[in-house]
Amino acid sequence: MHCVRKVTDDLYWVGGSDRRLELFENIFPIPKGVSYNSYLLMDEKTVLFDTVDAAIGKQFLENITAVLNGRSLDYLVINHMEPDHCSLIEDILLRYPDVQLIGNAKTFPMIGQFFNLNLEGKTITVKEGETFSCGTHTLHFVMAPMVHWPETMMTYDETDKVLFSADAFGTFGALDGTIFNDEIDFDSEWLNEARRYYTNIVGKYGVQVQNVLKKASSLDIAMICPLHGPIWRDNLAFILEKYNLWSTYTPETNGVMIAYASMYGNTQNLANVLAAMLADAGVPNIKMHDISRTDVSELISDTFRYSHLVLAAPTYNGGIYPLMANYMEDMKALNVQNRTVAVMGNGTWAAQSAKQMEAKLAEMKNMTVLTENFAIKSSLKESQLEELKAICGKIVESMNNLN
Ligand code: FEO
Repeated sequence: MHCVRKVTDDLYWVGGSDRRLELFENIFPIPKGVSYNSYLLMDEKTVLFDTVDAAIGKQFLENITAVLNGRSLDYLVINHMEPDHCSLIEDILLRYPDVQLIGNAKTFPMIGQFFNLNLEGKTITVKEGETFSCGTHTLHFVMAPMVHWPETMMTYDETDKVLFSADAFGTFGALDGTIFNDEIDFDSEWLNEARRYYTNIVGKYGVQVQNVLKKASSLDIAMICPLHGPIWRDNLAFILEKYNLWSTYTPETNGVMIAYASMYGNTQNLANVLAAMLADAGVPNIKMHDISRTDVSELISDTFRYSHLVLAAPTYNGGIYPLMANYMEDMKALNVQNRTVAVMGNGTWAAQSAKQMEAKLAEMKNMTVLTENFAIKSSLKESQLEELKAICGKIVESMNNLN
């Protein structure tokens, strides 16, 4: 049975959700599932905006058939060629052999890479700012390279002021029948997953996101239709502001995220003692993660969120404890910057982790490190409490300077 919702008088959501997939991109845990959005415009010409992941292909094809209600499909706009959105292109061509594919110069070579299709006479190549009429609606194409792949573009419907934003403004999480942001409590139920999605998938490309936000600011946008998660039809300023913070690597929350690795509980104890000192000093918003119990995508999400970080890990094979090393490599790969960090190491005979973690932070941009090779020997002793209090004092002073 088809399962669609009306977005405007002549625009339909024809996507679906997957609650079975364990790992998005075979990396990221998605306990709340994910939606793959696709939209069908029923103008004088019929226009489909992107397809979906193969996992929900049957539902998607049923949805299109129902909305078309006997009409043919005239155009497929391909805003993004990642397989979670393009997997059904071949099926669309088989069902609607007269369909024309609309993409940009980088779209069609990618189709050739993923598929074996003869597209001669079936493609329309568009450029930045070009427009296309499909009847009463005029579509306006906005290139969005690296948000999230080089071929990514957005399509703006000038008539209804709808922006089809590709991955941008998307989020992890299946849709529960409700598809609009004003039908859900986004702030409490969705924001954490939206942040985790943005920071891990697009986080590296802050400059490119800023470029697109500047272009978007010149458009009169009434609605944002992303490829994942809810459609934004009110309070657009909320999500635009979050994107502005995330893409400029500006903290959202004045607070401290403590990420620790601990083999036998001693580095955990060090982290706990510091956390209690910070709380005693009145520091708000302290969040602790045992990195052996927290997926790295959660760590990255909170790294983007908090103004201050404390990283604590033992020495392992003469280097940084592997899970901490992996997390820090991810920080670097995702361009994490503009954070204030305290580092705490541990070593029973040759403590190396603090020094090496500080060296790794030095490879990132604009990271202020408050410590210098502070390490405990196996466990925290009375003799190092003053040093720890001094670290706490530096964090508090740095946080006060934010206010
Ligand atoms: Fe949802 Fe970049 O694909």
